[in-house]
Formats: sequence, structure tokens, C-alpha cells
Amino acid sequence: MAIRKVARLGHPVLRQVARLVPADQITAPETQQLVRDLCETVIEYEGVGLAAPQVFESRRVFVMYAGVGEEEADAPSPVVWINPEIKPLDPEREQGWEGCLSIPDLRGLVPRHRRIEIRGFDADGQLRTVQYEGLSAVVAQHELDHLEGIAFLDRMEDFRTLSFLKEHERYWLPREAADES
Ligand code: NI
Repeated sequence: MAIRKVARLGHPVLRQVARLVPADQITAPETQQLVRDLCETVIEYEGVGLAAPQVFESRRVFVMYAGVGEEEADAPSPVVWINPEIKPLDPEREQGWEGCLSIPDLRGLVPRHRRIEIRGFDADGQLRTVQYEGLSAVVAQHELDHLEGIAFLDRMEDFRTLSFLKEHERYWLPREAADES
């Protein structure tokens, strides 16, 4: 196991379309090592998801915390998705704040589908289909984008929301809390 260095925006690996993992290589030591490293790295940097291109491996693998912010999931382990595909279950998109370990300290509003179905392999090579909503759906869409060479900035509709983390917490969050009350 190893904590990997995280590629930052501007590195070409983040703009490549990642390669499929051949089915017979999912359980191979190299892929298993990558999965373990992704899990260890996302924990170390306190991310909610991390895709293989972010650790300089252009392969269709990501890990994410499902159920983040939801009551039933206290301290879940990262969920592994290999060769995932996503189908929106709700045509509507909702704006939500996103950040990215490859774009440190920035937050921006990004439109995402509220509900999705994701289908792909787990680390044991088992094919799974799961439905996500809320933050889990957002994270899955964000991580899948990394496999296509897309950053959350590319999805933003209004760059006036782009904020450094401290300013986001200081100016945007209180405004939203006031709007909700
Ligand atoms: Ni990201």
C-alpha cells in the first residue's frame, strides 16, 4: 500500500480518456495495488472520491464514498468502481458545490443529475448495478468525468461562483444557510 502523489490541473494525464481495464486484469496484482493505493490516498487527503488518472494512471478505475452525508453511513470504506458506466435516472440537473483534489482549495457550483444508475465491476471482478442519489450521485458523476478527461470546471455554468475554500466558507455558505432558513 502506498499513498500516491495527486496530479494537479494542467498535467496532461487529467485530460486523457482513460483506458478500460481488461476483464482478466481486474484481479491482477497491478490493478489490486492501484485500487488499494486509491483507497489509501483518498483517505489520506480526506477526499470523497479519487480516480486513477489523478494518481497518474490512465485507467478506468475510481473509488468513492457512497452514502456520504447520509445518516446510515457513518464511516464507510471507499467503494471501488472499475470500467463504470453511468445512466441518469432524472433528466433534471441540480447545482451543487464541488471541489477536487487535483484543483486544490477551489469550490464551484456544478450542475449534476440528482439520481443516477452506475454499472461496473468491483475489485473482485463482480459486475454490479447500483442507484445513487444526492451527494453520492454527484461524486460518481464527478469521478466518471475524470475517466473522460473532464474536470468539474468544464461543467460549470457560471464562473462567478468559483471561490477559494476560505472565501466559499465565509461568503457563500452563510448566504445559503440564510436562504434556507
Ligand atoms: Ni476530482
